Amino acid sequence: MPDVFSVLSKDHEEVKKMLATLEKNRGGSRGSSGRPAQRKKMVDDLITEESRHEAAEEMYFWPAVRDKLPDGDKLADKATGQEQEAKEVLDKLDKLGADDPQFEELLGEFIESGREHIQFEETQVWPNMRKALSKKEASDLGTKLQEAKKTAPTRPHPEVSPEALRRRAQGGGTARRAGGGTRAGSNGKAAAGQKTKAELYKEAQKLGVEGRSSMTKEELARQIAQRSR
Ligand SMILES: [Fe+2]
Ligand SMILES: [Fe+2]
Repeated sequence: MPDVFSVLSKDHEEVKKMLATLEKNRGGSRGSSGRPAQRKKMVDDLITEESRHEAAEEMYFWPAVRDKLPDGDKLADKATGQEQEAKEVLDKLDKLGADDPQFEELLGEFIESGREHIQFEETQVWPNMRKALSKKEASDLGTKLQEAKKTAPTRPHPEVSPEALRRRAQGGGTARRAGGGTRAGSNGKAAAGQKTKAELYKEAQKLGVEGRSSMTKEELARQIAQRSR
């Protein structure tokens, strides 16, 4: 099973390749891939790839960074800020034809900021995350990202915040109170129904529950319940 860095790295390589091709063929001078219709199609593929990648990161990777690294909040805030700006640019780009005068301008902007963002993640975040995650955590996180990408949005949706994506991943907002008769705290479902994921997460942090950053709400509740018996 590929670990989180192989999953992310494969995406980054794919995006870098797309950016290089789009940059090289700017101006329509290099055969069919420089033609507006072809460029529109390539940008469309880029938007799909980017949207899935960033959504999966926001659901699982940045929460893990916040949890694992002492300066995790600062790093995640900066990265999700870059991602938010990128979503806005891609959203505009998505609505333009390749022959629109703004198309190449916005694309040029994205090529530059997209590369900067990738470099930031690879050089400022990954090295310490590689040290902070156990082999199992890195592999579990990789699986979650891969799964998340399968159903992640294929358009940028700048109106959906990284925090909302994180909550969606953790099942927040959909949790229901467990039915009567189940002793609170003895079962993940009961505890998960009564507390928010963030509250459970804080408790898990206090109790030193390992692997908490990649756990679902119910898994967290179960771990807390086991330790409180
Ligand atoms: Fe990212
Ligand atoms: Fe990334």
